[in-house]
Amino acid sequence: MTDVPPAASVEKFRDWRFGLFVHWGLYSLPARHEWVKNRERLTDEDYQPYFDHFEPDLYDPAKWARAAREAGMKYAVLTTKHHEGFCLWDSEVSDYTVAHTAWGAGKDLVKQFVEACRAEGLGVGFYHSLIDWHHPEFPIDLVHPQRDDEEAIAKAAGRDVQVYADYLHAQTRELLTNYGPIDIMWFDFSYPGRKYDDGRDGHGKGRDDWRSEELMAMVRELQPDILINDRLDIPGDFVTPEQYQPDGPMERDGVPVLWEACQTLNGSWGYDRDNLDWKSPELLVKMLVDSVSKDGNLLLNVGPTGRGEFDPRALATLASIGEWMRLHERSIRGARPAEYTPPVDARYTQKGNRLYLHLFSWPMGHVHLAGLGGKVKYAQLLNDASEIHRIENDPHQQAQNTTMGGVSSDVLTLKLPIQKPNVLVPVIELFLS
Ligand code: GLC
Repeated sequence: MTDVPPAASVEKFRDWRFGLFVHWGLYSLPARHEWVKNRERLTDEDYQPYFDHFEPDLYDPAKWARAAREAGMKYAVLTTKHHEGFCLWDSEVSDYTVAHTAWGAGKDLVKQFVEACRAEGLGVGFYHSLIDWHHPEFPIDLVHPQRDDEEAIAKAAGRDVQVYADYLHAQTRELLTNYGPIDIMWFDFSYPGRKYDDGRDGHGKGRDDWRSEELMAMVRELQPDILINDRLDIPGDFVTPEQYQPDGPMERDGVPVLWEACQTLNGSWGYDRDNLDWKSPELLVKMLVDSVSKDGNLLLNVGPTGRGEFDPRALATLASIGEWMRLHERSIRGARPAEYTPPVDARYTQKGNRLYLHLFSWPMGHVHLAGLGGKVKYAQLLNDASEIHRIENDPHQQAQNTTMGGVSSDVLTLKLPIQKPNVLVPVIELFLS
């Protein structure tokens, strides 16, 4: 037993660079955020209609996997169970599963998902909620839907989180035993010691509640090649910035760490019908580029509908990203940060002797690249392989009206067309000598 994942798994994960997150469960029916049970303080009884009406008749994960592959994604992570507690597979230790719904008798949506991903050549990950708002032994705490219900709290006084932990471990064992090799285990989340705003103890939960060390050891024993995220309240194999882009390559105690930013299309993870906060495909491509330029991955989420489909807005966004990726994949896949400092509003990535300049805004006529004077033997736009003219600067050149001056010799200047190429983010491929 080792504490570190095999180097080959780390390398594979890093090369993938771009993956699909899928948040799907009963909350897809109320269609107003996956935390609806918490936000609206719904009881199990209030929530029961979603179990009773769960009927994703259009579920065809082959379509999800194809949309992901065509968007340029290389792996997919599915919510096997979210905080609501509903399981997408026929768990032996629970009745709160798809297999116990009227529609889903005998169905295993996780199995279908895994098979679909494999058929498209995608890596497979399981998101699994540590939190459970349905389990009868999960103590009511500050994030629980019944947190303000005195009567429910009194009734729940004898709950034993260790009984719940046994259940968590048993389910994790099922997930990592029954579906072949799994690439990623994505637990969510810990909040030890968290307090209510007024300072009261929130009964937050962490490593002692989940028995995280033991859980992690079991995961590694069942799946020696798996990568585990960092939300068990003990260090994991990769860190998971959520809904923000870090300032630079991420570190823990001064040491660079593997990381993956998880991001939404519209701020919500579950299907959120009336939400209008959609990010543009251009912004999402920039987030992907930004992640890779800082040595991270992007896990981009889609919340399928209650019918089991990606809605048209999500599909259109994935298709736009896919068109960009079709032309620019080589600046992303397997790319790493570069040692050079990019000009304002640009990002570099690098693969071997090829340096990729991503221009987030299109400059007028020229772009000046610090530190690259005399170091580039060829330059082209990546989208159409059209040559980009290089100007090596003459340090004796004085500033004057129409001849470029004031540029030092270690700067390489590129001459750009006035028209921005018709792609979301133009990329210039520089061949270093
Ligand atoms: C969270 C949220 C959540 C989402 C997740 C993704 O912590 O609770 O709903 O699943 O992070 O990162």
